[in-house]
Amino acid sequence: MEEIRAAALAALAGADSDAVLDEWRVTYLGRKSDLTNVLRSISSLPDEDRKTVGASANQLRGALEEAFDEKTQALRAGPGAIADALDVTLPGRRRSGGALHPTTQTIREITNAFGAMGFQIAEGPEVEWEKYNFDALNIPADHPARDQWDTFWLQEPGSEERSDMLLRTHTSPMQARIMEKTDPPVRVVIPGRCFRYEATDATHEWHFFQIEGLAVDKGITFADMKGTLFEFARRLFGPDRKVRFRVDFFPFVEPGAEMAIDCFKCNGKGCSLCKGTGWIEIMGAGMVHPSVLRNVGYDPEVYSGFAFGMGVERIAMLRHGIDDVRQFAAGDLRFLSQF
Ligand code: PHE
Repeated sequence: MEEIRAAALAALAGADSDAVLDEWRVTYLGRKSDLTNVLRSISSLPDEDRKTVGASANQLRGALEEAFDEKTQALRAGPGAIADALDVTLPGRRRSGGALHPTTQTIREITNAFGAMGFQIAEGPEVEWEKYNFDALNIPADHPARDQWDTFWLQEPGSEERSDMLLRTHTSPMQARIMEKTDPPVRVVIPGRCFRYEATDATHEWHFFQIEGLAVDKGITFADMKGTLFEFARRLFGPDRKVRFRVDFFPFVEPGAEMAIDCFKCNGKGCSLCKGTGWIEIMGAGMVHPSVLRNVGYDPEVYSGFAFGMGVERIAMLRHGIDDVRQFAAGDLRFLSQF
């Protein structure tokens, strides 16, 4: 081993290029090197020699590897080395700085629009009690409207029965949570992820984001709701937008409405985006149902309010001309880097 050491170090001292270094590594540390042969033969030595020979062979390998690294660095740092490694005339490489997910961007735009009108922002749990997701919202267990929100129910470990917890099917449970904790006036928007147990296709995901809105005070009317949502539509979809409200049913509002804007692509003439109708539905809304107010301890004789809820991906799809909702969660950089 001492012979190997002396020969190796002498040869290394004379190495003056990467090619010679490479050769040296194969000769002295490679699979067919003398040192490797020694290491291989250790298991066939008598017991009493094995330990000492093994230790010094390993020590030698460590020392040679270290000497090799040092020599490599010395060569790289030597005169002329930098000039070879770095061509300062090459154009720089552009770094990708990352960006916000299009869903996040859309949530921010929407909440900013309402923030400018005096709404606060709140968030709530994705795993929710049945009580908030349904009962507090005037949707009792036997109510047919429960079918409208196909639900992922949670189970106790080991139990076949569903529990009274679920993945929230909409952000509306936050209406009850906030009113329960706050005295009116309330003015708040709530972005959050929702879940529905349904098959996916280009327009349906089993998880998606909604933004809920709620305003409750003395003397709030349907006209306040129209004014607020009209202003929102103009901020998000342009100053010339018209809005249309049509009657719709949600158990937690009365009257309930569906809001549409005139198509911002064709200005209402009819095109592929609005499917020829000139109108695009963007949210559900309505006056908070007196039972919902009563459930959280507000007196419906004194207070009134409006609520609304919209799908974030749907709005992002409309604004950017995206044709498949599944893109949002696919994690494909070719899609994401366009925003
Ligand atoms: N939560 C309803 C949905 O998911 C939307 C909505 C919210 C409707 C608030 C009216 C008021 O479809």
